[in-house]
Amino acid sequence: MKILAIETSCDETGIALVEASGGLRAPKFRVLENLVASQIKIHRPFGGVVPNLAKREHLKNLPILFKKILHSGFYILDSIDLFTVTVGPGLEPALWTGIGFVKELAEKYKKPLVGANHLEGHLYSFLLPSKNAEREVLSAKRIFPAVALIVSGGHTILLKMESLAKWKKLGETRDDAAGEAFDKVARLLTLPYPGGPEIEKLARKGNPAAINFPRPMLHDKNYDFSFSGLKTSVLYYLRDNQPANKADVAASFQKATVDVLVQKTLRAAKQFKAKSIMLSGGVASNKLLRNELRQAAKKTGMNFFAPEIKYNLDNAAMIAAAGYFAYLRKKKYKMAAQGDLGI
Ligand code: KG4
Ligand code: ZN
Repeated sequence: MKILAIETSCDETGIALVEASGGLRAPKFRVLENLVASQIKIHRPFGGVVPNLAKREHLKNLPILFKKILHSGFYILDSIDLFTVTVGPGLEPALWTGIGFVKELAEKYKKPLVGANHLEGHLYSFLLPSKNAEREVLSAKRIFPAVALIVSGGHTILLKMESLAKWKKLGETRDDAAGEAFDKVARLLTLPYPGGPEIEKLARKGNPAAINFPRPMLHDKNYDFSFSGLKTSVLYYLRDNQPANKADVAASFQKATVDVLVQKTLRAAKQFKAKSIMLSGGVASNKLLRNELRQAAKKTGMNFFAPEIKYNLDNAAMIAAAGYFAYLRKKKYKMAAQGDLGI
């Protein structure tokens, strides 16, 4: 099945062309094109994403990326079997741009159109191989049950997965998402937006044990998270310790965040006798988080799956995977922007 997917939920415009086969039991993807137009430079002066600017940029970028796909060679629109687009969660003015664009295409070519859940896109992103490569088909028996951690700018969610189509939410953040905490602490350190990569870079020059920031909810029995108190601790630390060593602050904050994410995920994985741990979302590109979670999983004999870096950040290839599975599961998302859509 050839799928054309569109992603416009936040500040990246994405269009991808993906071949999918194997169904829910043995899915196999081939990424033919995965185009992303980043708006980071546009939003940077504002220190965060401005919804109406995002909308304007998506409207400008969508036809440009689409033309690139058309001119990329052997893809004829008639050969597309399924159109899909992110319907939520995300910024509603931004989501509508993708929905409007794909609706016209699907009507014109008389092909099925399904809505995709952005969080399911992140969740499934570990299944995507490099462009034009194939990935071995993973046997469900070997990977499930699994525990999946989705960490992005808007979400921090822990799931227990029975299969690719069945899961239960174990916990989520009660306030800020992990990525949001990275972005806010970056602002306190006068680093540019988005803060995650900047903190990671600065942290390399710092000592993670220099400041003992709190590990919020680490010892609570539930699987919820909270990061706003940690951000406030950084604020107070900076207020009371000037001039501060910014690299030490970055490294110590990063370590506190990663400790909570890794230890809670590992505890859930052990409790539910998981065979695998999956990590996804923008914050999953953080090397400390990836490495520590990978090592923790390996130490306990579990598989560890994280997408290639380019599939961590928002992209449309992961939306193609989410659309494929939504189509197979007959999960009919409303074709309308749903800012708070859950998983
Ligand atoms: O998944 P994503 O691209 O967009 C959302 O769906 O939210 O995630 C973006 C978030 C931002 O908060 C960004 O600061 C964070 O991911 N992020 C990182 C890193 N790269 C991106 N956080 C920590 N370390 C990184 N290397
Ligand atoms: Zn995302």
